[in-house]
Amino acid sequence: MSMKDIDIDSVNLKMEPLKSEPERQTWFMAKCRQYTEDFERKKGRRPTFFIQTFGCQMNAKDSEKLAGILIQIGYVEAEDESADFVLYNTCTVRENANLRVYGRLGQLKHKKKKNPDMLITLCGCMMQEQAVLEKIKTSYRHVDIVFGTHNVFKLAELLATRLESGGQIIDIWEGTEKIVENLPSQRKHSFKAGVNIMYGCNNFCSYCIVPYVRGRERSRDPKDILMECERLASEGVVEIMLLGQNVNSYGKNLENPITFARLLREVEKVEGIKRIRFMTSHPKDLSDELIEVMRDSKKICRHLHLPVQSGSSRLLKDMNRRYTKEQYLALVDKLRQAMPDISLTTDIIVGYPGETREDHEETMDVVRQVRYDSAFTFIYSKRSGTPAAGRSDQVPEAVVKERFDALLALVQEIAMERTSIHEGKTMEVLVEEVNAQDNTLVTGRLSNNILVHFPGEASMIGKFYDVKLKECKGFYYYGEAVK
Ligand code: SAH
Ligand code: SF4
Ligand code: F3S
Repeated sequence: MSMKDIDIDSVNLKMEPLKSEPERQTWFMAKCRQYTEDFERKKGRRPTFFIQTFGCQMNAKDSEKLAGILIQIGYVEAEDESADFVLYNTCTVRENANLRVYGRLGQLKHKKKKNPDMLITLCGCMMQEQAVLEKIKTSYRHVDIVFGTHNVFKLAELLATRLESGGQIIDIWEGTEKIVENLPSQRKHSFKAGVNIMYGCNNFCSYCIVPYVRGRERSRDPKDILMECERLASEGVVEIMLLGQNVNSYGKNLENPITFARLLREVEKVEGIKRIRFMTSHPKDLSDELIEVMRDSKKICRHLHLPVQSGSSRLLKDMNRRYTKEQYLALVDKLRQAMPDISLTTDIIVGYPGETREDHEETMDVVRQVRYDSAFTFIYSKRSGTPAAGRSDQVPEAVVKERFDALLALVQEIAMERTSIHEGKTMEVLVEEVNAQDNTLVTGRLSNNILVHFPGEASMIGKFYDVKLKECKGFYYYGEAVK
């Protein structure tokens, strides 16, 4: 638990809940806790919860906040969907993310028949779509609570409402100006944490649904961000990942504007934080100031995720990415000149409407020139409501498949070569977990994000070790600690 200023015990439930946040939610947490106490008296155990995250790091961060609220209320975390409270935090960036949720929801129906007290909650990006809501209202009546991306902080209030009234509770906001600070949060890892620096996105890339479901860009106050980082450091966190859809435009709309590079300088000063990462960088907004700050920093990791999406300037224009192939390659040159050892990763979309063989070749060419350390390749997925979805020149599936396979093969070949250049070196590893397949090994990450497995045990988690990288296994290493 990270927010020490939440004090449920001092809440007076005889008074009406306040209008201001987070006080209002504290009141509802106290209210819900009466329910979990009743539950415990009746059943001789506390109610359990299970949260499944379907989306990106920001989605995962929201899940940690939701878990924090449930734990305050008195719930205990369970391993799977046999829990009393099941929550799906959904993603809608590509069609298959949606399909997975519907599949799992169908299975939950049977579970709920056996355990009628079970509560099912849906939230996240999918819920911001009207068509999805209609489907849930008509075909998924067994869902109890539905909320969206703008009111995650309201879970306790919605749960209290559900417990008192029964029926399906739906609360979706179109958008929000509000950023509610100081709610509880339950971190997944003891030693590393994500920190939101901004919400939403203003870029409207033509294929992307995120701006529609996450709303307009809002930056958090740098003071709140630094306070959170300091608090995390005091709790033993050594690695921080700053999160936003487009971190390079952080701070532009604040009352006292500040650049992302300056924010990084401030985070760097937080004692105890040893590694800083951030996601995601949009190439169009990556400043020289940021490159300088990264170059001079001892803490910012030598890794940059720089989604290119396509190598064709013609498609990039159509995608509304606002850079050309040449500009992107020039930016990569600048980064490599400043930091020769930087690891670069990317996202690429295959089969965007109107993509020709030549466009595809341009993408292959960028991959050959940049030589990414790794890349996420996605087949274009039509998202209703986005400009690209209405196009009549969608690329036939068989053609997309062929291009996708060719791209993936190239990306993997280069990634293996890039990974292997470190063989024999000794580098610093932050240990993340005991290896799931072989418990005589631990698994950790290099600054450049490559995974390393080496002999060790659970007590090493969250600590740094100098590790000799003995054997490259494609995308990861086997090593041995040297001290
Ligand atoms: N804000 C980040 C990306 C967030 S979405 C950025 O601008 O880089 C993560 C990735 O999903 C994107 O980089 C893109 O490659 C992919 N993506 C988004 N919409 C998609 C769609 N409709 N079809 C296929 N991939 C998509
Ligand atoms: Fe989507 Fe583009 Fe915003 Fe990234 S920058 S979230 S791809 S609209
Ligand atoms: Fe998915 Fe929403 Fe993230 S659509 S990728 S969970 S912002």
